[in-house]
Amino acid sequence: MTRIAYVNGRYVRHADAKVHIEDRGYQFADGVYEVCEVRHGMIVDMTRHLDRLGRSLSELRIAWPMHRAALVRVIREVLKRNRVKNGLFYMQVTRGVAKRDHVFPHPDTKPSIVVTAKSTNPAIIAAKNANGIKAITVPENRWDRVDIKTVGLLSNALVRQQAKEAGAQEAIYVDADGTVKEGAATNVWMVDEDGTLLTRPAEHGILRGITRTTLMDVAGNLGIKIREEAFSTEKMLASREVFITAATSICFPVVEIDGKPIANGHPGSVSQKIREAFFDIAEKTSIW
Ligand code: PDD
Repeated sequence: MTRIAYVNGRYVRHADAKVHIEDRGYQFADGVYEVCEVRHGMIVDMTRHLDRLGRSLSELRIAWPMHRAALVRVIREVLKRNRVKNGLFYMQVTRGVAKRDHVFPHPDTKPSIVVTAKSTNPAIIAAKNANGIKAITVPENRWDRVDIKTVGLLSNALVRQQAKEAGAQEAIYVDADGTVKEGAATNVWMVDEDGTLLTRPAEHGILRGITRTTLMDVAGNLGIKIREEAFSTEKMLASREVFITAATSICFPVVEIDGKPIANGHPGSVSQKIREAFFDIAEKTSIW
């Protein structure tokens, strides 16, 4: 099957999809993105993802590339053309194409938009859920506005690579004060000695994950207590359970951090309960 991408108004073969060499996303990482899960032909939490896209755009003063309803039509079309039932879509909006200059281009410059989609292999996700994943901790070295979902992901890419080279799947950023921030592409959670879920407040210094927000609804439904509170690496290493969340993975148990097992070194029950209830509670929008 030929993969199809949407690029600035056209549906093109993925292999031929191109943006201009002077796109500001390419030259300055001057753009934002969203990744959204598709499960059983349903887009998961689309409203929240589009709301966050709107916030990221407005923080960077980039205009919407098209009306929101039109963008939803494009997303559905890309999913259908790529026959994605279980997988994800990626959308990226940049400030557009202009002669290289740090200051913003002329206000008439049209934002660039790209939408792609791909199927994922449920067996790989199931294996990660069953076995858990390993993580390493790394010092925070990103800019201060990580609350905006920008395509400026060089640090994230470097620490993910570092994790891979250490035999792990995620790198967890730790602040200068020793508190846990978030993963290279995930939010981080721990379960304390009384079974309360802890995650860092999202007002500043981390991305407010959509999965994180929906997980709070799910935990509320299951009667699991949550506190938004920063915690240290030591506390996380001594916790009952650690897991990470993202639209691509919902919630993967973390069974080892920096070579040390978490609890008995096996996936915990809280993340499993949450995962099982997640899709019943998350918003689902049909592709059709
Ligand atoms: N990443 N923190 C960071 C730095 C992220 O990049 C992501 C998502 C998250 C989780 O957000 P959400 O629950 O909305 O997916 C937290 C996406 C999946 C990515 O870059 O591929």
